[in-house]
Amino acid sequence: MVDLTTNYLGLALKNTLVASSSPLSHKVSSVQELEEAGIAAVVMYSLFEEQIIRESLKLHEDLSRGTNQFAEALTYIPEIGSYSIGPDTYVEHLRKLKQATKIPIIGSLNGVSTGGWIEYAQKIEQAGADALELNLYYLATDPDLTSAELEDTYYTLVRDVCEQVKIPVAVKLSPFYTSLPNFARRLVEAGAKGLVLFNRFYQPDFDLEELDVVPNLVLSNSNELRLPLRWIAILYGRVQADLALTSGVHTATDMLKAVMAGASVTMVASELLQNGITRIPAMLTDLHAWMVEHEYESITQMKGSMSQQAVAEPAAFERANYMKVLSSY
Ligand SMILES: Cc1cc2nc3c(=O)[nH]c(=O)nc-3n(C[C@H](O)[C@H](O)[C@H](O)COP(=O)(O)O)c2cc1C
Repeated sequence: MVDLTTNYLGLALKNTLVASSSPLSHKVSSVQELEEAGIAAVVMYSLFEEQIIRESLKLHEDLSRGTNQFAEALTYIPEIGSYSIGPDTYVEHLRKLKQATKIPIIGSLNGVSTGGWIEYAQKIEQAGADALELNLYYLATDPDLTSAELEDTYYTLVRDVCEQVKIPVAVKLSPFYTSLPNFARRLVEAGAKGLVLFNRFYQPDFDLEELDVVPNLVLSNSNELRLPLRWIAILYGRVQADLALTSGVHTATDMLKAVMAGASVTMVASELLQNGITRIPAMLTDLHAWMVEHEYESITQMKGSMSQQAVAEPAAFERANYMKVLSSY
């Protein structure tokens, strides 16, 4: 009997497959379907800092009719389309998901500044979330802003959120840090119990006819696994946090690689959006079959077995590999 269970953020999960933050959690019925299909946990779509600020500015505007101050401020905060539901609706939806399912539900806050909106971490906790994922999604464009300043801001934000809640907090990161291991360690010092690698930045495209910059959401493929795979392999055993891999998980093979690198959980969005929820039992069956065939007894036994500290050639993850790859062409 193969043991597929894992532990993530102190949560005992029946397997490593977690639905990452996406529209799949918009409906209670979809989350129930995810649960029935065998998913171990669900991360909710994010509540954005901008939504909360927008809501509170609107409230101020209502309370102080006659001044244009808040109406003007509102124009600086973008509408977020169908993602733009109010914060209280978000918390209420979370409560409903918890009532309708038995699997852990992880709330998701997406923000970059420390401020009044982080009280929503507490509201998410009170609504019954089993954990909180904090998505640090910021694109630095100001040449005067140093990476050290930005990392300090993130550190403070994570520390402040962790101080406000008792549930475990995981931080979802982008890959774009000059020294990722150092920043990862600081996040753990700030209180993060998990690191989710990596955020996918959605790149805008150009419409040449309209001379317009257009948003363009392209779903991932398995090739994208390699970036988080490498970094999870490097961080495993070096930071005292659970590691979650997101970006490019489409098959059982991807899940196996992620776990061997050191991931406690493998998160999936594109595959389910593209090919449906029935991919969950298929991926879990394939995972199980591969482990039986290769005589692995458990996820725990396999976890980190191909991390940088475990492999015979640790340099394969580093610069040394670069010339080798180029010359192999
Ligand atoms: C349509 C869509 C909506 C998403 N919304 C969120 C979100 O609200 N918050 C978040 O942290 N990530 C969001 N993501 C990112 C996913 O959680 C995931 O990290 C990313 O898609 C990479 O995983 P994948 O390769 O399995 O798609 C979204 C992704 C997609 C495709």
